[in-house]
Amino acid sequence: MPDKGAFITLEGCEGSGKSTQLGKLKEYLEKGGYEFSVTREPGGTEISERVREIILDGNETRMTAETEALLFAAARAQHVSEKILPEKAAGKIVVCDRYIDSSFAYQAYARGLGYEFISGINVFAMENCMPDLTLFFDVSPDEAFARKGGADKDDRMEQSGIGFHRKVYKGYLAVAELFKERIVKIDATRTVDEIFADVVAALKERNII
Ligand code: TYD
Repeated sequence: MPDKGAFITLEGCEGSGKSTQLGKLKEYLEKGGYEFSVTREPGGTEISERVREIILDGNETRMTAETEALLFAAARAQHVSEKILPEKAAGKIVVCDRYIDSSFAYQAYARGLGYEFISGINVFAMENCMPDLTLFFDVSPDEAFARKGGADKDDRMEQSGIGFHRKVYKGYLAVAELFKERIVKIDATRTVDEIFADVVAALKERNII
């Protein structure tokens, strides 16, 4: 394990099996006696969780794309300074369910705000806190929604329709090309155990475990 901790993020479309893999990773790190913490975005701190409620509120139809992007960045700013950076500095492996690449895929690409704008507001929010490793669970939204039996009607993002989620997926593929060193693409159409074997291999390859 590295002296200064590590920051790992998990990314993928709705229903990509990300949560299942996160559960397995947590179990693996617990059994291995690693110092780690699991967190999520939007969220992870009290303030960020409150911002999350506003962003994901399924009854809210007035929010502009710009407001949405800034709220994700605001939640992130608090999360980075209150939790991610201190825990990483204390030597922990910090595992985060979604992070900056969600903003690239959802806000820059799918909402059409563009990479420059999203990058700009997030440079300000992130204090250079880029992940050491990002695991992208690669499965198309068509396949993912079919597996989970449709979208969650209480979640504003999930309600956005299949056309939106296809754009999100394209966004992820573009971002994975842009950050080839950091983002490891994992074929998420396989069995849970096959996928998890790749997760462990990626962490070992980076000397995180
Ligand atoms: P969540 O219920 O955590 O989704 P999942 O279980 O699929 O991870 O809701 C988070 C939603 O917010 C999800 O639709 C992705 C979206 N999101 C963005 O659009 N931009 C972001 O920067 C982040 C962190 C999340």
